[in-house]
Amino acid sequence: SLERFGRVQALQTQRKFASTLTAIKDETETANTEAKQCSTFQSMQEERRERAERSVLISCPPKFNESKFLKLLSTHGTVKKYFFYHNSTTNAVVEFSSRNSIASLMESTRLPSGSSIPFKSRLMSLKWPDTQSPLRKVKLQDLTPPTPLDTIKKLSKKNSIDEQLQCLMDIYQLTEESISLRYLVCSLLGDLAGVYFPQSVIRPFGSTVNGLGRLGCDLDMILDLNGTYEGSQKRSSPHLEYQVKMALSERAMVQTILSVIARCLEKFGPGFGGVESIPHARCPIVRFSHETSGLSCDLTLNTFGMKSSELLFLYGQLDPRVRPLLFAVRFWAQNHGITKVVPGAWITNFSLTLMEKPQFKPEANLFIRNPFEEDLNVSKNVNEKQLSNFVTLCQKCAWISQTQNVLKPLSGSVKEFNSPWGFVALLPEHMYTPVFATLKRKKPSVNITDLFKTLKLTKKTDANEGESVVAD
Ligand code: GTP
Ligand code: MG
Repeated sequence: SLERFGRVQALQTQRKFASTLTAIKDETETANTEAKQCSTFQSMQEERRERAERSVLISCPPKFNESKFLKLLSTHGTVKKYFFYHNSTTNAVVEFSSRNSIASLMESTRLPSGSSIPFKSRLMSLKWPDTQSPLRKVKLQDLTPPTPLDTIKKLSKKNSIDEQLQCLMDIYQLTEESISLRYLVCSLLGDLAGVYFPQSVIRPFGSTVNGLGRLGCDLDMILDLNGTYEGSQKRSSPHLEYQVKMALSERAMVQTILSVIARCLEKFGPGFGGVESIPHARCPIVRFSHETSGLSCDLTLNTFGMKSSELLFLYGQLDPRVRPLLFAVRFWAQNHGITKVVPGAWITNFSLTLMEKPQFKPEANLFIRNPFEEDLNVSKNVNEKQLSNFVTLCQKCAWISQTQNVLKPLSGSVKEFNSPWGFVALLPEHMYTPVFATLKRKKPSVNITDLFKTLKLTKKTDANEGESVVAD
């Protein structure tokens, strides 16, 4: 019985231990989830940035042997992920497991004969002698947005406005591959910027990271100088301080840094083109295109964009309805010409997204609060004419939705052949007219073909029977 008593005690101790362990585990999990939620935005960015640093971009010939290409790359280390896409040429994004593989690959990559440019980039070209067969086309990822016609067709087939908005987001949002490519372009630019500013990091912001990015949207980047502008702390103890060049103002320094990067890109940055400095804008930027990825890029030094991107990202995380709604509003505004790709006196996607109950301030046409500095107006640039266009459009759409019975789909399988409804009805007519016109035209033409077929058949039968029914 002593032995049994001992066993019972051991069992009880074991159970106590197990429940304590479960409690600790639960607490740890809760803490981890909280920590994860707090750091999601930054950690996601860091993870993607680190992956981009282990990646290369390779322009390929139209046909080559995919497995031999991979074999060639694998001699430098494990290829973790890769995909192909088309933009003028076929291109490959290749992610290695380790950064050492990049060093090894770059070591073995040749400079084109006669080249005197010393900068070696992670943008390379695959040279494939014709004798290396069999050659095949590779499977390509589509990184381009769907056509308006396809979009309207898809939306019209949905059963509710909620489904339409969800569908719009699903077909337009950035894919995993398009996001990887964007981070890689930042990383390639970072290599170049690092020549002058070794501690700097190029970070994407705006719609690439805020959860509202559409296929084909621009790539906004920040040159984060990473500690170059340290706040001055008064120290009583002896210490060392860097000697630096003083500028007339911080704005003047920003302009100088951007002009240096612009010149570097123009002269030494393979894949970068159309470089244009815009130093006198409210927020100085360098605008350029990255030809291999097909992306239009804006580079700035203003870190405000990073904070506001995180804010929009968090809005999207808080409620699943936010992102589909904002995709729809941005799509609607873009197609009505309310927002434009170039800056000007019109409302931007950013201010449109932040719009809450449009607050009356006598000194402004439109006042949309800057969420970080409530007295500042993010729509200060909007002039009276643009505001009036916007208000007229809102009134028209409100009128359509209230009076034309377009909010519900027609029942039955023919709803998409009839007329625009739901979100589609609020888009410009020129977008949906071709869809409904084609579908309406198509129907009678099918009937006529069928009628001719019937007539032919009837004629044959009649010829056999020696009678005519054409008049019938
Ligand atoms: P799309 O590029 O149109 O998909 O959207 P986006 O959110 O990236 O907007 P955009 O490229 O126009 O701007 C990029 C970033 O610049 C935004 O996320 C904001 O941080 C900032 N920004 C843009 N417009 C304004 C503005 O009118 N006022 C302020 N303060 N910041 C702006
Ligand atoms: Mg943008």
